[in-house]
Amino acid sequence: MSVVFEEAAPALSDRELNAVVQLVYQRSGITLHDGKRALITARLQKRLKAGGFRSFAAYLRFVEQDASGQELVQLLDAIATNHTSFFREPQHFDFLREQIVPEWLGRPDRGPIELWSAACSTGEEPYTILMTLLDALPAADAGRVRLLASDLSTKALATARAGVYRLDRVQDLPPAILRRHFERGLGEQEGLARVRPALRERVTFEQRNLLEIGAMGRPFDVIFCRNVMIYFDRAVQQRVVAALERHLAPGGYLFISHSEGLNGVTHGLQWVAPAVYRRRLT
Ligand SMILES: C[S@@+](CC[C@H](N)C(=O)[O-])C[C@H]1O[C@@H](n2cnc3c(N)ncnc32)[C@H](O)[C@@H]1O
Repeated sequence: MSVVFEEAAPALSDRELNAVVQLVYQRSGITLHDGKRALITARLQKRLKAGGFRSFAAYLRFVEQDASGQELVQLLDAIATNHTSFFREPQHFDFLREQIVPEWLGRPDRGPIELWSAACSTGEEPYTILMTLLDALPAADAGRVRLLASDLSTKALATARAGVYRLDRVQDLPPAILRRHFERGLGEQEGLARVRPALRERVTFEQRNLLEIGAMGRPFDVIFCRNVMIYFDRAVQQRVVAALERHLAPGGYLFISHSEGLNGVTHGLQWVAPAVYRRRLT
C-alpha cells in the first residue's frame, strides 16, 4: 500500500511578511498591521497553490517581475477586505434623498448629475445610491444621473457588474425596494437575487486605484469614498482626500464612513453632517 503525504503549506518568514506589507502599501496604500499575519498567510497560500509556487519568496519574486501586473492584482484581491452591504450607514442615503435631491431639483442648469462610488467593492453601495435616486427623482431628472463605480479589486468588480447576490444579503431590504429593483432567481438560480438590468446598465464600472486618480473628465456632484480610508495611514489619506477634493464640483459632496475622520488631514471642505463634507460653492 502506498501512502501519499500532503506537502506542508509553506510558512511566511518575517522577511517575506515585511516584503508583502511593503508591496501592498506601495501599490494600494493599505497598511497591514502586525496582527494580520495569519490572515495574510492563509490568503496568500491560496495564490501560491494556484500558481504552483513552493515558497513565499518565489511567489513574491514572481509578483515583482510580472510585467503584466496580473498577479499583483490577484495578490491585492486576496488581501483587501471587501465587506459591504446594501444601505450600509443608512443616514447617508437619507441625506442624499432629503438634502441633496431637493437642491438638484432647484438647480436651473438641468445638466447631468455626476456621482462616483470610489471604492465600490461588490456593488452594494453604488446600487443603493442609484435605487435611492431613482426612487426620489422625477423620471425626467432620473435620466440625468450618471454613476461611476470603481474599485481596485477586479474580483469585487466582477461581482458588482453581475449584480447577483445571495438572498440573505438582500432579505432585510424593504419589500417595495426588493420588488422594484431586484429579480428573484428561479431553478438553478434559486436562492439568488439579481439587480434589474435597468439599474445595472446605468452604472459604469471601472478598475481604479485611489492612489493613482488621474484626470476623470468631469467634476462630480457626489463622491462616496467610504470604509477604505480606514486602511490608509495619514499620508495616504491626505493624498486621497486632496485628489477627491480636486474632483468635486463646487458645492459637491464627499461621503466618508462614520468610522473614519478627516482629523489631521488638510483640506478645504466644509463639514455639513456626520461623515459628509462639501466643497464650497465658490
Ligand atoms: C470595505 S470595502 C468598502 C465598500 C463600500 N465603500 C462600503 O462602504 O461598504 C473597501 C474597498 O476598498 C477597496 N480598495 C482598497 N484599496 C484601494 C485603493 N487603493 N483604490 C481603490 N480601491 C481600494 C477594496 O478593494 C474594497 O473593495
